[in-house]
Amino acid sequence: MTDRQCILALDQGTTSSRAILFDDQVNQLASAQQEFPQHYPHDGWVEHDPMDIWHSSLTVVRRMLDWARENDYRICGIGITNQRETTVVWDKRTGKPVYNAIVWQDRRTADYCEHLKREGVEEELQARSGLLLDPYFSASKLNWILDHNPDNRARAERGELLFGTVDSFLIWKLTSGASHLTDATNACRTNLYNIHQGEWDERLLELFRIPASMLPEVRDCAGDFGTTDASLLGQSLPILGVAGDQQAASIGQCCFSKGDIKSTYGTGCFVLLNTGDEAVISSQRLLTTVAYQLDGKPSYALEGSIFVAGAAVQWLRDELGIIRNAAETETLARSIESNNGVYLVPAFTGLGVPYWQPDARGALFGLTRGSGRAEIARAALEAMAYQTSDLFKAMAADGITPATLRVDGGMVANDWMLQFLADILGTTVIRPQIAETTAVGAAYLAGRQAGLYGDFEAFTELWQCQRQFEPGMPVDQRQQLLSGWADAIKRVLKSEE
Ligand code: G3P
Repeated sequence: MTDRQCILALDQGTTSSRAILFDDQVNQLASAQQEFPQHYPHDGWVEHDPMDIWHSSLTVVRRMLDWARENDYRICGIGITNQRETTVVWDKRTGKPVYNAIVWQDRRTADYCEHLKREGVEEELQARSGLLLDPYFSASKLNWILDHNPDNRARAERGELLFGTVDSFLIWKLTSGASHLTDATNACRTNLYNIHQGEWDERLLELFRIPASMLPEVRDCAGDFGTTDASLLGQSLPILGVAGDQQAASIGQCCFSKGDIKSTYGTGCFVLLNTGDEAVISSQRLLTTVAYQLDGKPSYALEGSIFVAGAAVQWLRDELGIIRNAAETETLARSIESNNGVYLVPAFTGLGVPYWQPDARGALFGLTRGSGRAEIARAALEAMAYQTSDLFKAMAADGITPATLRVDGGMVANDWMLQFLADILGTTVIRPQIAETTAVGAAYLAGRQAGLYGDFEAFTELWQCQRQFEPGMPVDQRQQLLSGWADAIKRVLKSEE
């Protein structure tokens, strides 16, 4: 039997499922990735087939098991990280989903949330869950699934149906129904979880009309989540770590101290600021969330959520067809001296922090006869920086001014974008050596539980900066660009009225 040990991280994201093996020094050994279809049945609706989520996950996990066997490594445990808020309901007996997974980007419950808002419950909801009333979170999506078909509600009330975010669904499938569990970082994204008491909140369950029997049990991020069914994978492996992908990225970036902050540029962009033991409630409509929970003790974060980041680059490629790959945006952005007055507000699925306008839609402003693909591509990259700057402004109004920002995610390979980000924020932007921070975070949780990785201190020693981007733009130029953005945003919000 080999003594070469590794951890398998399963990163179930919005557009693909990935599995990565890490050795005992958190070096990446191998990886596999599989994309799966997105479904847009109506304007503002986004769905996944839960069986696509499951099969793509199973495929990449199996590939990593084959790799480990061929290369003489023993997998000590599995860490799961996942797209958050996405809502799955399935039959407790058969495992069959009763509806497609409603994805975090889906806005179908905007009117329902608006109706609840008019009833004046948002303040109480924020005080309990740390979140706001928005279709982004799971509760209104779950309510929609139960109301969509009267049979669903009746079956849920009889205790025949289960609810889970993607982590919970995958754990249930991997253990063939033995574990119906989630962790605190995923639970706190549902709008049903009391982040102060660390339990499902009866008042919120009543508000969204959710039977408690559907809910998974909530655990720490590192712990015993059951073992995989040997008939699925050929061996029983313990699932030892679970965290939502943004919290996992924050762990992978070693944001363990109060004031540490990271921003992940994936499908969307999510900024998490560690606030330590204190669940800070924002006056600026930022979210309060569990950063991680270990040994029964939660650490909190303030979060800024932007729904479209990398998705705008995919849009340039797939819908406009003006680039062949993401890397081309960098060449195009560099090919012009300025944005020539062109701004893109990529509100394809509404606007998140600090605007919270689920019905807002994207817009391109400032086009002239001379505007071309370079201006549009550059505007898409600039939009990431402007939106991050909006989050930083909200944080500043809450009394927080970060000195540096750690970045990760697929888009941070783009040097031009990171330099522009540093210029617009007036803040040092740091890119780590290991770009796979989300998977690293999940691996760390499982590896810590398995005894393969040490405490935060030992893990932090492994983190290394790859490149630092210093702000260099003259203040008046920055202000001019930001006022162009503010104007574009105002016009998008105005068309809402
Ligand atoms: O809250 C949604 C988030 O978890 C999705 O992350 O990586 O798909 O942008 P990502």
